[in-house]
Amino acid sequence: MSGRSQKMKKIKTVELFAGIGGFRLAGDSLGFKTVWANDIDEKAYTVYKDRFGDCAIIKGDIRLIDPNTIPDHELLSGGFPCQPFSNAGKKQGIEDPRGTLFQSIVDVLRIKRPRYFVLENVKRLLEMDHGRHFSTILDSLSALGYDIEWRLLNACHLGLAQNRHRVFIIGVKADLREPHCVRLTSASELSDLRPRELAELLSPESWRSLQKPRATFPTWGICIDGHFSGADIPDFHEKCPPVVLADVMEKDVDSKFDFTEITLKWLHKNTPVDRFVDGVEVLSNQGGGARMGYTLFGTAGIAPTLTASTSRHYERYRVGNRYRRLTNVEYARLQGFPEDHCRTATIYDQYVLFGNAVPPPMAKWVMNRVLEPGVAIPSKGTQMRMALCG
Ligand SMILES: C[S@@+](CC[C@H](N)C(=O)[O-])C[C@H]1O[C@@H](n2cnc3c(N)ncnc32)[C@H](O)[C@@H]1O
Repeated sequence: MSGRSQKMKKIKTVELFAGIGGFRLAGDSLGFKTVWANDIDEKAYTVYKDRFGDCAIIKGDIRLIDPNTIPDHELLSGGFPCQPFSNAGKKQGIEDPRGTLFQSIVDVLRIKRPRYFVLENVKRLLEMDHGRHFSTILDSLSALGYDIEWRLLNACHLGLAQNRHRVFIIGVKADLREPHCVRLTSASELSDLRPRELAELLSPESWRSLQKPRATFPTWGICIDGHFSGADIPDFHEKCPPVVLADVMEKDVDSKFDFTEITLKWLHKNTPVDRFVDGVEVLSNQGGGARMGYTLFGTAGIAPTLTASTSRHYERYRVGNRYRRLTNVEYARLQGFPEDHCRTATIYDQYVLFGNAVPPPMAKWVMNRVLEPGVAIPSKGTQMRMALCG
């Protein structure tokens, strides 16, 4: 076994806001050992216990759990629910996360001090409240002594037939003996940046303070000691071969997934669209626009983002000569989970549980990168250079 895989095997992880265990599956596939997990939801808890064993997860409100009772671990993960921060106690541009679920992550990191963390959230985190929300998150994590990096990824680049953007935020405990590194992008992707962007990244003196956030944070960035730099990286160089809906649709589907006559009548009044929008094949809808009422999708492209909101499960697809919604098995496939992962839940609840989850292939790509050496960037006052971290 190589030194790196031995190191991976030793990694103990804790999964907060575990849901049905998207991070857990990713960690398992990398040889990590999840030593503790938590979620408040009964149905998610039942799935997690069924898949990973009786002692795998604690059910309860994380805000009521004393972080000191959580076992020691090297990597903390969590896809935390997005809640507004309060304006009380606001410093310039920075809000107050106290009392929020995000604060529970900060509390665990402060007390348990794992070497790494990986967090996941929705794309709009980068622009909520004119950037103040994200700068508050970065500020709280950076103040704990972690080097932070984030990147917006799309599930469709990691082998899934779904347009699902998610922001991943990673932290590596700052070590004065080690150079700062970037891990969620590569030297080849950085070479695609404009000269001005690259020059800023390589001169930390010019990085922007979190007290003056950008209204929309770029899709990739790094934050050290309360200052950040970032850019919209034009391309993801590690794209998996594309997969479309037609590749993952079930063949013999029960008629309970078909649309009723009433819905079909509505659909026949639709205006044709017949074009691809962000890789999604939009056949028709009520207004003839890109994304309007009663949209009918085809299967030659990818699925729009699957969500946990109940109305969205009834999105309409034309599959061959049938008009139907996606099945729970298709939801599992589009999210990168085993088909029977949520077998303890009703079909209706499976849509919610899968829709809420982090796709394991996305989580795996990020968790793997966190442990990679990364590309070294200069510290304040040092010469401009880029090299591989040791
Ligand atoms: C976005 S989902 C994360 C799903 C998870 N990453 C997965 O792969 O299934 C957020 C999770 O936070 C849980 N949650 C919400 N409030 C909580 C609380 N106060 N304490 C613990 N868990 C909570 C929800 O039940 C939900 O499963």
